[in-house]
Amino acid sequence: MNAIALTVNGRAVDASVEPRTHLADFVRDALHLTGTHLGCEHGVCGACTLLLDDIPARSCITYAVACDGARVTTIEGLDTDEIIVELRAAFTREHALQCGYCTPGMLISARDLVRRLHDPDERSIRVGLSGNLCRCTGYVGIVRAVRSVIDQRRRRGVLPEPGGGRTMLGPVGSGGGTNGSDSRVVAPPAKAEPPQENTVETVVPDFTPTVTVTEHFTVAHSPAAVFGMFGDVAAVANCLPGVSLTGVPTPDRAEGSIRVRIGPIAANFRGAARIERARETWSGRIIGIGSDQRSRSSTQGEIRYRLVPVEQGNATQVEVAIGYSLRGLLAQMAREGLVRALVARMTADFAGNLDRHLSGAGPEDHAKKAVELNGFSLLAAVLRQHVGKIFRRNRRRQHGDEV
Ligand code: FES
Ligand code: FES
Repeated sequence: MNAIALTVNGRAVDASVEPRTHLADFVRDALHLTGTHLGCEHGVCGACTLLLDDIPARSCITYAVACDGARVTTIEGLDTDEIIVELRAAFTREHALQCGYCTPGMLISARDLVRRLHDPDERSIRVGLSGNLCRCTGYVGIVRAVRSVIDQRRRRGVLPEPGGGRTMLGPVGSGGGTNGSDSRVVAPPAKAEPPQENTVETVVPDFTPTVTVTEHFTVAHSPAAVFGMFGDVAAVANCLPGVSLTGVPTPDRAEGSIRVRIGPIAANFRGAARIERARETWSGRIIGIGSDQRSRSSTQGEIRYRLVPVEQGNATQVEVAIGYSLRGLLAQMAREGLVRALVARMTADFAGNLDRHLSGAGPEDHAKKAVELNGFSLLAAVLRQHVGKIFRRNRRRQHGDEV
């Protein structure tokens, strides 16, 4: 944890933050300033825009530790700001918002344009706002609202400020704000995680997953063969990337570990799983619980599967629903999209290994390798999804043409 001191909406804040905490999470989670929205978390959509030393900045790609000494202003801090008051009225008048998700970031960027541009045409305003995406309005009302505020102010004789208040070169926030307040707020320390031992649970409780991801794949073997193989816990574990057993499994219980890496965080969850199977419906459920001391993270997860015969029973569609709840450090990194990509990758590897196992070849040596998601594999996962979609769409079209 790093100690930082900054000024947020005119009040001094002392806090202790993880080095990887980004400013948006810090203002939202530690200071409860939820007017700063999160959309893409990649610096693309502008929903998280706030002012850093009075200049608009993307808080999703700014580390909170990098703002030590800076002046941060969120939309809440601009409640009575003259330009924002005028922009809010204009947005209402011109129907420049629908769901309002983009609006805090849009208002902050628009305020910057109002300060900087003398007599902009529509194109300059569109270019100026091109870093803020709105999925609802089509931008016409937004551009009209911003233009009307600039027009009104210039008519009242309010001139633009050269540079919109920028006084120095360098990245936003590098100026180091001065602390203009006497009242210091101490942000509540990040919630301490209960000490976690890498001990294995003796009881695997039921739970309700916070996120569930569904996947399916087809293997060229009958449901009976696939269901039979799913009863062999050691063989299944051998097909799952990153998984290794730490004891001798029984048909309804196994102990083991799974190694996962998301970006810079690696975790080795040790735990236990309960196994349930129903031959009548060719379905089953595996419920697991585990923890990792190093990343101070813990997880509960469940895999539900159902086997559906296809191709006259010569092949099987395996439908899986993977649900999980994650707590601790890894939960901070594991945004839902990342985990979905991770699950998709794990499922694809498992499908390949399963096919190889059922065909008599051993699985690739995945159990020794952590299931990993970095920038490249995330990109690959996204591409795979898109290619799969195009492929499926073409197949549907062809099929439709044939009928
Ligand atoms: S959430 Fe920061 S730019 Fe999209
Ligand atoms: S008003 Fe809905 S995203 Fe802009």
